[in-house]
Amino acid sequence: MKPVPLDVVRPEVMELAPDVGSRPDVPIHLDWNESRWPLPDDLIAGMAEATATADSRPYPDGGYPAVREAIGALADWDPEGVVFGNGGDDMLQLSGLALTGPGRAAIYPSPGFSMYPWAIRLAGAEPRPVPLGENLAYDLDALESRIVADRPSLIFLTNPHNPTGELLPLDAVRRLADAAPGFLLLDEAYHEFAAWNARELLDEFGNILLLRTFSKAMAMAGARLGYLLARPEAAHAMRRAQPPFPVGVYTCRAAAVAMRRRELLMDLTRRITAERSWLADRLRSVEAVEVWPSQTNFLLFRTPMHSPVLRRRLIGHGVSLRDFSAHPRLAGTLRVTVGTREENLVFLSGLRDSLSTPVDEAEIAAVAGPDSPIG
Ligand SMILES: Cc1ncc(COP(=O)(O)O)c(C=O)c1O
Repeated sequence: MKPVPLDVVRPEVMELAPDVGSRPDVPIHLDWNESRWPLPDDLIAGMAEATATADSRPYPDGGYPAVREAIGALADWDPEGVVFGNGGDDMLQLSGLALTGPGRAAIYPSPGFSMYPWAIRLAGAEPRPVPLGENLAYDLDALESRIVADRPSLIFLTNPHNPTGELLPLDAVRRLADAAPGFLLLDEAYHEFAAWNARELLDEFGNILLLRTFSKAMAMAGARLGYLLARPEAAHAMRRAQPPFPVGVYTCRAAAVAMRRRELLMDLTRRITAERSWLADRLRSVEAVEVWPSQTNFLLFRTPMHSPVLRRRLIGHGVSLRDFSAHPRLAGTLRVTVGTREENLVFLSGLRDSLSTPVDEAEIAAVAGPDSPIG
């Protein structure tokens, strides 16, 4: 067999973290912040009918006017300023390719979402992490001085943040957008769970891109649809770096139904948000557990236990969580997605049980390496 010419793969690509891999085979996945709540029957039926009647033979309409307009209406924004693709991750990749490149710098908060440095490296640009401040809160002064010093063409900022759940006030975002010489991509993947969003900043700043996704509150992670809201000039520029048919007809059809029935999903979102408070209170009542306040559908918490061991013990209880302890600032932490009440009860009782038995060296040695970086 002729050998695989791996030597021609770009060196920066060989250094990227491998893909997300498989998940543990457990009944309760509270690890990737998907929607865990059952969807109303008529929403499922509407999506099933819309996809069953879709014609797969032609390419999707090049301009996707229907989806673009529906997203525009959803966000009260000009449809010409909507760019969409195969999930928010795809939009991050697109932003890296279109707005950074060799010789350019891009900054992002650390710890933070692992796809930012991935998108920057893939584009051949230089990732410049800016550490979070005390107790993992955003450090605005540090971000601002790095913007001034590094002159990045692109800044990634997550609001609310992943994995801490912190929501920055809009004035803080304004301050950073003002200082930015290039684009500020404000990742609002979790905005539906938060007390405010930055939609109004699009009217004030030509350099802001808002990233949103159908994967979280819209309960469609499997269908893959994410989008950017931007000034039309910026959106047109970004679309030049996209293939012509970035999303399939089935996803578009299902998303159209989800948008028409959005009130059902927003009702679920309100219930998930209320459940988040309930879960945070219960978690805080577990001895020696520290919980970060969150404006998302997940909670970051710290325990005195080695997190890979705790994660492994919870898997033994049928619950999978996300372990971030590979990041030095996140030792002892785990992130839990807000599940249904039943799931949360299983998690809490598994947690209490897991924390009640001390860990020995053999157990630490037995747990596999750090969790996958995608989050
Ligand atoms: C902060 C953040 N941004 C973007 C995404 C991308 O989500 P998707 O590609 O499913 O739209 C996620 C997913 O976990 C996320 O946490």
